[in-house]
Amino acid sequence: MEIVVGITGATGSIYAVRLLEALKENGVYTHLIMSHWAKENTVVEAKYSLDYLEGLAGEVHDNKNLGARTSSGSYVTDGMVVVPCSMKTLSSIANGYCENLISRSADVTIKEGRKLVICPRETPLSPIHLKNMLCLAEIGVKIVPPMPAFYNNPSSIDDIVNHHVMKLLDQFGINNANGKRWDG
Ligand SMILES: Cc1cc2nc3c(=O)[nH]c(=O)nc-3n(C[C@H](O)[C@H](O)[C@H](O)COP(=O)(O)O)c2cc1C
Repeated sequence: MEIVVGITGATGSIYAVRLLEALKENGVYTHLIMSHWAKENTVVEAKYSLDYLEGLAGEVHDNKNLGARTSSGSYVTDGMVVVPCSMKTLSSIANGYCENLISRSADVTIKEGRKLVICPRETPLSPIHLKNMLCLAEIGVKIVPPMPAFYNNPSSIDDIVNHHVMKLLDQFGINNANGKRWDG
């Protein structure tokens, strides 16, 4: 399996770190693309070095490189996750504005009818944000915001993050033992 992972400058880069770790554990080959602000935020928030993050990926592409493999529909992948997704990148994807490799790869994922999972993060959400999400949801893009569940009695930030990563992996049918599911 091959998945493109786009990381943008919304807060919550720890979700991307854990997702990349889980994909690697599951033998999924990843294409990692980070925006400038994703890099800044990862270092500040997640306390992980970019080298660590990049080491988890199968290959790393520069967000400015619109000639990278994932910018063409002829390069086949199993889909893409944008996590966390800023409102700026959400808007560019919803409007087909392919100004960088993350938005172009998402555009390709949509046009090829592949699975696109967006993990938008902002609060409060304006009508513009909501309209952009609705626009994507209506064409089959999965909108999976990082909203913590409490039925699993999380006792740490890691519990909360792992639960959300499980929800992201579920979108691709990848099993993940790190999240605690509700079983009645
Ligand atoms: C510490 C920090 C936290 C941010 N959190 C968010 C956020 O949660 N959601 C959002 O839409 N933008 C957030 N931003 C703003 C984005 O980084 C900014 O809009 C940027 O242009 C997004 O570009 P990108 O999508 O190419 O990464 C944050 C910026 C900083 C510095």
